[in-house]
Amino acid sequence: MEITTKELREKYLSYFKGKNHAIIQSASLIPDNDPTVLFTTAGMHPLVPYLLGQKHPQGNRLADVQKCVRTGDIDDVGDATHCTFFEMLGNWSLGDYFKKESISFSYEFLTEVLKIPSEKIAVTVFKGDEDCERDEYSANCWIEKGIKKDNVFYLPKENNWWGPAGITGPCGPDTEIFYIRNQEKCCDECSPACNCGRYVEIWNNVFMEFFKNEDKTYSPLKQKNVDTGMGLERTVAMLNGYESVYDIDVFKPIIDFIKSQSSFTDENEGVKAMRIIADHIRTATFMLGDEKGVTPGNVDQGYILRRLIRRAVRFSRVINMDFANLSKIAEMYIDEYSAYYPELKENHDKIINELNLEIDRFTKTLTQGLKEFEKLLYYIKDKRISGKAAFKLYDTYGFPIEMTQELAKDNGVVVDIEGFEKAFKEHQAISHAGAEQKFKGGLADNSVISSRLHTATHLLNATLKVVLNDNNIQQKGSNITSERLRFDFNFPRPLTKEELQEVEDRINEIIKEDVPVVCKEMPIEEARALGAIGVFANKYGEVVKTYTIGKYSMEMCGGPHANSTGELGKFKIIKEQSSSSGIRRIKAVITGCDNFKE
Ligand code: SER
Repeated sequence: MEITTKELREKYLSYFKGKNHAIIQSASLIPDNDPTVLFTTAGMHPLVPYLLGQKHPQGNRLADVQKCVRTGDIDDVGDATHCTFFEMLGNWSLGDYFKKESISFSYEFLTEVLKIPSEKIAVTVFKGDEDCERDEYSANCWIEKGIKKDNVFYLPKENNWWGPAGITGPCGPDTEIFYIRNQEKCCDECSPACNCGRYVEIWNNVFMEFFKNEDKTYSPLKQKNVDTGMGLERTVAMLNGYESVYDIDVFKPIIDFIKSQSSFTDENEGVKAMRIIADHIRTATFMLGDEKGVTPGNVDQGYILRRLIRRAVRFSRVINMDFANLSKIAEMYIDEYSAYYPELKENHDKIINELNLEIDRFTKTLTQGLKEFEKLLYYIKDKRISGKAAFKLYDTYGFPIEMTQELAKDNGVVVDIEGFEKAFKEHQAISHAGAEQKFKGGLADNSVISSRLHTATHLLNATLKVVLNDNNIQQKGSNITSERLRFDFNFPRPLTKEELQEVEDRINEIIKEDVPVVCKEMPIEEARALGAIGVFANKYGEVVKTYTIGKYSMEMCGGPHANSTGELGKFKIIKEQSSSSGIRRIKAVITGCDNFKE
């Protein structure tokens, strides 16, 4: 049976709807208030607060298709299976059903809706260790359903435990579901843990009942949850018996188009380049078209986007394809996906314009870099480009190292990659030190007035969201002097007089209430799960300070702060202006601090 991505999405959602699951919207690709990861990497990611016990407005049975980006394996894209963007089908129980029902739903969906013969399914369950018992219960559920005993495998934590996403967080044993391909066992011990290709993973049901603490111990969660994830593209490829994920319906016309516009002699190189272009332009289209809109840049998400676009250009060069075709490919993706992701259609012009702009920028860089490369070639003596020279090409001319390597190969010279990496790391250490200096600088003044302005900034951040009724508002910059605070945030238009007045009034009300400002230290994941906002560049597991101002604000921050809002006196906005495209800037002061309470 041929099945398309559209059909699998629909079948999945309608099956779980029939089992009383609310169908929720895919969240943005940019995680909310999560400074430790750049992109949403799994369906459970936006649901962490609810897995930890917060009530979800749509109930305790949810299902969705979540857009995800994982760029850890970017260098593997080009083979038959890797993609940087993918859609994850998922269903969740937030303290509602557990193992038995979850297994029953999965079995029914696979065998009755997708009509996969039961004997073609293998499953793995948790083998058991000192943290959690052997999952005989799940194994029996599968066998009762009809899975052959020989196709149930018990595996240890490294295979059958999912999460936490970082060092601490919700996690638990899982049961993974595999399709058995028409291929003999590679050895007597052959199991889904083996990568011989006989078993293809299609679904992962995680029984999230633990919280992993910083000291590596596990505590039971308030509620037992189910978190499942099925990769849409991979499953469609498997159901259709395709060797490569790039043969599925969403990629096929793109690959055909690229083929018609390119020429290459080495089939392997050509196929790899076509897949890279198809993958990277799809990911770039979703990043540019996301509701939280990313644009190419030199840091964070913008940097990944830039890298993807530039790689697509580089590989277009490899197969002699005109770069102008890249935006045509983006157009094809917008058409394909807009029914599910209307943000792509809404952001159509932005996607195409930004993509073309970045291609232009890179083309200029390439022209300049090529000239420099020619010069370099003229001067080198021992057929070797030093790490320093390669780094200079990269740093000064934005010339990618891969490009230097390719050109070097064409010209029969080698590049000192180790030397390049060393120079790169040294440079990173210097910029990092610079960033830390800057951060310290922002908070360097620990005077009473700047502590109070700091607290006022938190109140402003929280109140803007309320008054403008926009939860996507985020701090884009903050600067405090002994006179005033300055706060930059994303918002598309100037604020009205009335809105500014309301912001001021609400903040002054909170000041009058004299709400205590409570500081607590906790792991960053816990802070985020509790809903703390903040733009900290911390790593998972790191302990952060959170400042809570009653029910009004909870923010991760280095401090210092006022002891209670009453200390702030009176809050006044002195200016509201544009800071850059899509970013507004507010300057505000506090007055009458010391005698306010009298
Ligand atoms: N969180 C699990 C995964 O990403 C199941 O959704 O595989």
